[in-house]
Amino acid sequence: MAYVITEACIDVKDLSCVKACPVECIYFGGRMLYIQPDECINCALCLSVCPVQAIYEDALIPDELRPYIAINAEFFGDTVTGWGSPGGATARYTTDKDHPQVASLPVRPAK
Ligand code: F3S
Repeated sequence: MAYVITEACIDVKDLSCVKACPVECIYFGGRMLYIQPDECINCALCLSVCPVQAIYEDALIPDELRPYIAINAEFFGDTVTGWGSPGGATARYTTDKDHPQVASLPVRPAK
């Protein structure tokens, strides 16, 4: 079980979740943030602070957002960052890359 960041984060990146996370398992990509599923402790603190409701528990994620379970996990794999489980989101583990499915989405107009 892990929490998952989904489409509503793209081009928003409010970052309240980063401040709330006690284990620093939320990592910066270019257009959204990603939760490292092996490092997430399922505390739900991130879910309660995100202003755009981008975060879901994987077991309760709506069907249309289900691909984001793999998108979050694959962000850490060899096809995107190759970071694996770095053990904490430090400056070294920050990138302007995104999962290809996120990178391919149209840019959201600024509000
Ligand atoms: Fe994104 Fe919400 Fe965090 S917009 S950066 S998931 S607080």
